[in-house]
Amino acid sequence: MKYIFANWKMNKSLAEAMAFSQEIKKLKFKNVIPIICSPVIYLSELSKVLTGSNVKLAAQNIAAWDNGPYTGEISARQLAPFCQYAIIGHSERKIYLNENLDLISKKINQAINNKIIPLVCLGENEAEKASGKSQAIIKEQWQIISKNINKPGPDNLMLVYEPQWAISTAKDNQGVGDTPENAQAMHQFLKGLTENKFPIIYGGSVKPENCASYIDKKEIDGALVGGASLDLASFIEILKLVENA
Ligand code: PGA
Repeated sequence: MKYIFANWKMNKSLAEAMAFSQEIKKLKFKNVIPIICSPVIYLSELSKVLTGSNVKLAAQNIAAWDNGPYTGEISARQLAPFCQYAIIGHSERKIYLNENLDLISKKINQAINNKIIPLVCLGENEAEKASGKSQAIIKEQWQIISKNINKPGPDNLMLVYEPQWAISTAKDNQGVGDTPENAQAMHQFLKGLTENKFPIIYGGSVKPENCASYIDKKEIDGALVGGASLDLASFIEILKLVENA
């Protein structure tokens, strides 16, 4: 089974989100699970639209705390009726909101405790890659996180290798991204590090033109698609290519 996440980030109106979800709901897949990572404010409405379909929903973030005086935060407990997954520790949150591994570990525990599958982001930045430290960086990230979280099983945690420099909107990238071979090597490394226990998907400029060459690697269990998931036709094309890969 392959997992294809549409990470809309801070895009789309409610009407656009509803229309997109209604179209995805009409499609039938056997080999792929589509997961829409919607702005949190739409999850309640979208969960009604998607009832009875095999399309899942994800939050793009959750709070690190269970409940209480945390103005503006939304807890995993509050989100659990509306989504099955949550992206945790996306590189954009590390860059713009200074999220660190301690906070990220707390969020992962909140998700697991509330039966939301955390999609945990690991990856290095441009400078770390340039200095040849990519594997050392993701090893360190995983070691800190795995030490701090409740024992997750294969069904309650998913990882995404998401190199910051390969994101389509990254400053230096201009939509070029990674190579499938480099992504495969990093996934092989991560699969070993995590004892083959969890699905690991890839995130970084995945689009219709290149998705088959990522997805056909056995170490790559799916994709986190940002920019190319905003356009309905592109996202459907990706789902169909993966379904038939
Ligand atoms: P992108 O985003 O597909 O636009 O590169 C990927 C991500 O957010 O990880």
